[in-house]
Amino acid sequence: MSSSTFGRRGFLLGSGLGLGTLLVLPTVSSRAEGGKVAIPLAKLEVLKSVGGSVVLKLKGKLVLLVRDSATSVRALDPVCTHRECLVAYNPGENKLKCPCHGSQFDLNGRVVHGPASRPLANYAAELAGEQIIVTL
Ligand code: FES
Repeated sequence: MSSSTFGRRGFLLGSGLGLGTLLVLPTVSSRAEGGKVAIPLAKLEVLKSVGGSVVLKLKGKLVLLVRDSATSVRALDPVCTHRECLVAYNPGENKLKCPCHGSQFDLNGRVVHGPASRPLANYAAELAGEQIIVTL
C-alpha cells in the first residue's frame, strides 16, 4: 500500500461547473492500493450531498465523481466521446451534458442524445465509510 497527496497524484479541477474553476487541494490525501484510490469524503464537501459532482485527476486520469444517492457515488471519464470536451453533471435532469455540441449521457455513461455515439468509460466507485474508493 502506498499513500499520496493530490499534490503528487491528483488535483481538483472543478465542481460540476465544467472547467470554469481550477482548484488545487495539496492537502487532500488519498491512499492507493493496486488500481484503487481512496479519497476521504471529508476533503470533498461537494460530494457530501446528493447531486454534488466534481472532476478530479487521479493517477493521471480525469475522473468525474457524482454523488447520485445517499449510499452511492458514480465515477466516469468526463471526456466526451464526440470531440473531447468535458461533460458536466446536471442534477436536475440526472444526466451528464456536454457543453460543446449537446451530447447527453446517463450515469452509466450511455449516450442518450448525440452527436456522440460511443459511451463514456465507467470506473467502479463506492462509498466505504468516510471514503470514496475508485478503481481505475
Ligand atoms: S464534444 Fe461533446 S458533443 Fe461534441
